[in-house]
Amino acid sequence: MGIDIRSENAGDESAIDICVTRAFGSADEANLFRMLRDWHPTFDSELSICAWDGDELVGHLAMTPVPMRLLGERISAAAVAPVAVSPPRQKQGVGGKMLAFGHKLASAKGIDLAFLVGHPDYYPAHGYECRFGFSKTNYEVDAIPDSTLELEPWPVQEHDMGWLLECDELEWQNVDFSWPRTGRREE
Ligand SMILES: CC(C)(COP(=O)(O)OP(=O)(O)OC[C@H]1O[C@@H](n2cnc3c(N)ncnc32)[C@H](O)[C@@H]1OP(=O)(O)O)[C@@H](O)C(=O)NCCC(=O)NCCS
Repeated sequence: MGIDIRSENAGDESAIDICVTRAFGSADEANLFRMLRDWHPTFDSELSICAWDGDELVGHLAMTPVPMRLLGERISAAAVAPVAVSPPRQKQGVGGKMLAFGHKLASAKGIDLAFLVGHPDYYPAHGYECRFGFSKTNYEVDAIPDSTLELEPWPVQEHDMGWLLECDELEWQNVDFSWPRTGRREE
């Protein structure tokens, strides 16, 4: 039977959980996707892409629309993750088909670019380019000296808002590449 690729429908949630958990060998990514679906303000279930073989869900691809700041411009982008194909169905083209379907749909919705953190050998075959290189940081945890600072938490008060918003601005806006927060920063 051929693979049918389509957007998520109400009632597909458990099948997605199972497929994503099988693909990754743990429930972390399935939980992450549940959080995106339930909480992300720009989540779009049409960009939650399912690959069905009859009544079995064999693959799932999540694209979350996000506004981005890139070299001074605001653009519409999509964060691609997680991508999952159930183990017995891997390396049969399901992942590629879901990516092609997702890219076409996202373009039709006015999304200019898709980005992800993923396998450097897999995604270039589907149009992705490695833009930010690779990085790896090792920390010698035992070599980190004990802090001499004593931190005292206190509830945010009205007069803290000015400098908190300044920090937020600095961190999320004044850089070449950022994924601005959605929703109200004050929250
Ligand atoms: C990665 C994954 C989504 C690919 O889906 P798929 O349906 O198996 O991939 P396709 O059949 O479309 O593509 C197969 C090709 O990709 C290659 N490939 C598959 N997984 C790969 C990986 N982890 N690293 C490098 N290449 C990979 C295959 O070797 C094959 O190449 P070939 O056609 O030259 O032989 C799937 O293997 C999967 O769910 N893996 C476990 C979860 C995971 O790691 N997800 C991605 C997180 S970034």
